[in-house]
Amino acid sequence: MAPSSSSPGSGTLPLLRSLLLLTLFLRLDTPLRPAAAAGHDYFDALHKSILFFEGQRSGRLPPDQRLHWRRDSALRDGASSGVDLTGGYYDAGDNVKFGFPMAFTTTLLSWSIIDFGRTMGPELPNAVKAVRWATDYLLKATSVPGVVFVQVGDPYSDHNCWERPEDMDTLRTAYTIDRAHPGSDVAGETAAALAAASIVFRSRDPNYSRLLLNRAVRVFAFANRYRGAYSNSLHRAVCPFYCDVNGYQDELLWGAAWLHKASRRRDYREYIMRNEAVLHAGDTINEFGWDNKHAGINVLISKEVLMGRAGYFQSFKNNADGFICSVLPGISHPQVQYSPGGLIFKAGGSNMQHVTSLSFLLLAYSNYLSHSGRAVTCGSGVSASPVLLRQIAKRQVDYILGDNPLRMSYMVGYGDRYPRRIHHRASSLPSVEDHPGLIGCKEGSRYFLSPDPNPNVLVGAVVGGPNVTDAFPDSRPFFQESEPTTYINAPLVGLLGYFSAHR
Ligand SMILES: *[C@@H]1O[C@H](CO)[C@@H](O)[C@H](O)[C@H]1NC(C)=O
Ligand SMILES: *[C@@H]1O[C@H](CO)[C@@H](O)[C@H](O)[C@H]1NC(C)=O
Repeated sequence: MAPSSSSPGSGTLPLLRSLLLLTLFLRLDTPLRPAAAAGHDYFDALHKSILFFEGQRSGRLPPDQRLHWRRDSALRDGASSGVDLTGGYYDAGDNVKFGFPMAFTTTLLSWSIIDFGRTMGPELPNAVKAVRWATDYLLKATSVPGVVFVQVGDPYSDHNCWERPEDMDTLRTAYTIDRAHPGSDVAGETAAALAAASIVFRSRDPNYSRLLLNRAVRVFAFANRYRGAYSNSLHRAVCPFYCDVNGYQDELLWGAAWLHKASRRRDYREYIMRNEAVLHAGDTINEFGWDNKHAGINVLISKEVLMGRAGYFQSFKNNADGFICSVLPGISHPQVQYSPGGLIFKAGGSNMQHVTSLSFLLLAYSNYLSHSGRAVTCGSGVSASPVLLRQIAKRQVDYILGDNPLRMSYMVGYGDRYPRRIHHRASSLPSVEDHPGLIGCKEGSRYFLSPDPNPNVLVGAVVGGPNVTDAFPDSRPFFQESEPTTYINAPLVGLLGYFSAHR
């Protein structure tokens, strides 16, 4: 994809002219297609990582839908509760709309744009659309004060079938939390998502931005006032799928941190300072994902310390530094494991979610450090410079794109060798265009069990990835390795946005 390095023409003048043309071309195009011919096409990967979200869309698809093998689905979501809950994203390879990971995905897509949107070039509008597809839904899910619709679809009914979303005839139960059945985790994350997205739309669509911020304020107040874990209120529906194991305290701090960033209101700053110890900001500093927000809270809030604006948040920076030291490979007591091939590895399945979210934090923190001319000092005099943090993050991205022992890109449709049998109902069943007739619940099983590649290429999907020995089965039943999720891609969009302009 990169311009050829051989220069056409001979002699100084033609060469000069072609260099000038090349410069002009690069000037117009530079953040997108850097000149170096080696390495990965991060811009292509960025484009694909965003396209993936179109494959996860639920509801009525818009005329500008680019992924054509998907069709409208779940058009009656919410009807049994008398509300419109169409839209939003399926979380992964099934057809349930799980609100907790959807909100986290939205927060991370927004953070990707806030920190790295500047270098996304023509992909930026697509990234913004991916956020809006989620926030339009989250606004519907929070339209009634004191209630949040946190999930649509009975996960047992759904998981019992291998069905296209377009055919879905499983139970589309709409689950809610309210004052008597609280869920500060999912409500706190929803408030974080709405607040983060309000920043994305601040100059692009001020009215929409205001709507998002006002809603975030209201949802956060509800989350904070009626405290509890949604896994207690809705145990059967959300466990073991997106059961909040880690507690709701982190989502309250996280929601407040995003509201503070979006609104600059003093009460959120005071809330964070007052609750820092109560809500355990310093716990499990090296975790960051849909369940555990700790490392993210510390990195996000540290930006203000590093910009010299908020010395009162110093302890968050100490935690963030501790997180950085825990991820450095080869340090005396590393807390994060690496595979022999160099991939960050955490037990529990769908490892790539940790790879992308931790790498995102490394890169974001690296930028905050650069801007303030600082480095992180880890024990025994080891210093982690912003450049080192960026290199570690880049190494993880490169592993995902194919620099690994199997020479396999873990992003579908990127490179020549990528997963062909991803655990994804819509991708693995024939498209509606090719097979207009209904494929019922159990009729899908033969496609699930087939050794054939998926007929529909879900371009940009990044799967759970290899196991701790860098081995990858490329087989649908191995869902921990072969299933893509929206929260693997959301932070990757930011990483690719950055590396498509800085190699
Ligand atoms: C934004 O909101 C204002 C006041 O509610 C309204 O007058 C205006 O038409 C809105 N603008 C857009 C673009 O919707
Ligand atoms: C990793 O996967 C390979 C191939 O599927 C398998 O042989 C190996 O036992 C797995 N290792 C672990 C630790 O799960």
